[in-house]
Amino acid sequence: MPDMYEIYDHHAARYHELVQHEDADGELRKAVYEIVNWRNTRVVEAGVGTGRVTGWYVKYITSALLLDRSEDMIDQARNNLSPFLHRLTFRICENADLDRMKKQVMHPDVGNLGADIFIEGWSFGHTILDAEAAPGGGIEERCDQLVHSAAAMIRNGGTLIFLETLGTNVETPEAPVPGLARFYTQLEAAYGFTRREIPTDYVFDSVEQAAELCGFFFGDDMAADIRARGSERVREWTGMWTRRV
Ligand SMILES: C[S@@+](CC[C@H](N)C(=O)[O-])C[C@H]1O[C@@H](n2cnc3c(N)ncnc32)[C@H](O)[C@@H]1O
Repeated sequence: MPDMYEIYDHHAARYHELVQHEDADGELRKAVYEIVNWRNTRVVEAGVGTGRVTGWYVKYITSALLLDRSEDMIDQARNNLSPFLHRLTFRICENADLDRMKKQVMHPDVGNLGADIFIEGWSFGHTILDAEAAPGGGIEERCDQLVHSAAAMIRNGGTLIFLETLGTNVETPEAPVPGLARFYTQLEAAYGFTRREIPTDYVFDSVEQAAELCGFFFGDDMAADIRARGSERVREWTGMWTRRV
């Protein structure tokens, strides 16, 4: 089984196959539409992946700057979003280097107004856990940096939206590891983000497909558990953290 970074770097098409089955009931998609009016907005999306979330809002917006560290994911996103390429700018970018993208969102007519919406999905969490694993384990410092970099790209009155995991193949929403729990607590306590917990269950065509695709991404234990339970629905929870700048 490849690890997650190997998947992002070399198996983007299979990753996209998996996420096509996620949020089968459309709850997250509905929440993303409800939280802000996307019409005629300028958007920055970090960790765009294969453009799954982008595909929800792209028809409404004026433009989007789409960022990811993986070329393979960006290639897939470009392919998936091909009718809208005239509105989209893709850039390879590490989340830890977001500041370098600031000049890209300066409005050409009005100086440094910034974009209207910043969104990221299941990407900052990776950067937080990488920081935890590094010597010194600076989760809080990395969280500060990510929030400040994202906010710096947004105009006053704009919106920050962070989507992160609250567990896959579990019955109740909860941060799956302590490092993410610390990240989520800091977003709420230090920065005033509001959390909404949303069911984003996967529904597959068969139990075997559920086991294979979830096993590919989440590991063999999950595949075995899915086979044992024998359901093509895999429970999942996603947190949506939002804040006006
Ligand atoms: C779980 S995927 C989510 C992709 C997409 N947002 C979606 O909804 O399917 C995580 C994405 O974040 C990217 N990513 C992970 N760590 C990153 C980092 N440090 N800097 C930039 N992108 C990163 C990966 O390449 C991958 O495309």
